[in-house]
Amino acid sequence: MRNLLVTGGAGFIGSNFVAYMLEKYADYHLIVYDKLTYAGRLENLDRVAAHPHYHFVRGDICDAALVRDTIRTFHIDTIVNFAAETHVDRSIFDPGAFIETDVRGTYVLLEAARDFKLERYHQISTDEVYGHIPAGQRSRETDPMLPRSPYAASKAGAEHLVYAYHITYGVPTTVTRGSNNIGPFQYPEKAVSLFATNAIDDQPLPIYGDGLQVRDYQYVLDHCEAIDVVLHRGHIGEVYNVGTEIETRNIDMAHKLLDILGKPYTLLQYVTDRAGHDRRYALDCSKLRALGWVSQHTFDAALEQTVRWYVDNPQWWRPLKSGEYLDYYRRQYIERL
Ligand code: NAD
Ligand code: DAU
Repeated sequence: MRNLLVTGGAGFIGSNFVAYMLEKYADYHLIVYDKLTYAGRLENLDRVAAHPHYHFVRGDICDAALVRDTIRTFHIDTIVNFAAETHVDRSIFDPGAFIETDVRGTYVLLEAARDFKLERYHQISTDEVYGHIPAGQRSRETDPMLPRSPYAASKAGAEHLVYAYHITYGVPTTVTRGSNNIGPFQYPEKAVSLFATNAIDDQPLPIYGDGLQVRDYQYVLDHCEAIDVVLHRGHIGEVYNVGTEIETRNIDMAHKLLDILGKPYTLLQYVTDRAGHDRRYALDCSKLRALGWVSQHTFDAALEQTVRWYVDNPQWWRPLKSGEYLDYYRRQYIERL
């Protein structure tokens, strides 16, 4: 493994992964291939832009010709696919974009991995493929996928293709299913980045439904490290869950976030619930731990570090809260607030 094509590398997790890998592996080349949708920001990669082993190609993963050309040009041996439409609420408005990128785009990348006989195809997946998990249970990698939102269904569809390409064509694949990531450079539409940036500006924090939904919020660099571990020590054809196994209710996350900022709970505003909202995700991550990976950040530490980053970096997120973002915000929230 030397030349990695990081699709979706200008997004939140992908850009953190690229910086992490460039710092850790002096001889690896990281080629970011990204369409730069509303969520893909070149400024997320400013910190690596001058690195001699970093390259950027603007492109759509559904564009088979450009994908193949890029693989040839940069002698790619490994694909790590982060590229996706990722926001559940947007998938409820517009499922088509999710099916196109998350499913068809994955197919295009798998075809290229097969034709070029790449060393590895790694798919970034999500705990949402398991669907809602009743209290007391935890998802293991062998459990059935029961996705319940268009986003989750698209990610599950992509994963089925990954498995099929491994079994049918022998493509050397691995998959990680991560829980909710938080940290620097998360587009301010996801709960933690939205709540932090709204609270800094004394704007309301919209809590869906009763706020008692449970998530496992993990620090983005723990997730990046897990992907690194699976790339180097994971078994071909296998799937690995990635999370802290710490359960947090959304309302408790919001209270802690306001406490960190010293803002009043009166900013909390209960709004109509998300359609088909999964109440709980909970992973069993023992399979990944058996490879030697441990989550380094507790939820409290991850939240504190994340919120501080948004306080310290308004020049990154303030310009994002304009144009397309405001259209989305109006459509998603104004009638609810
Ligand atoms: P993000 O929305 O911040 O970034 C997605 C990136 O993909 C953007 O840079 C975007 O420009 C790019 N992209 C979108 N469509 C593309 C296309 N057709 N061709 C090329 N590039 C395209 O997403 P994220 O939060 O960084 O998530 C990255 C991956 O991790 C996704 O596959 C997501 O499903 C998965 N994941 C996310 C989380 C989370 O909590 N954010 C948790 C588990 C798994
Ligand atoms: O679990 C992994 C997934 O986490 C990733 O695969 C997705 O790409 C990512 O978007 C995220 O999905 P969620 O729907 O869990 O994350 P989100 O930040 O949108 O919401 C977290 C929780 O907070 C969820 O229960 C919904 C709730 N919520 C969210 C928003 C945006 C609110 O109560 N209010 C909000 O305004």
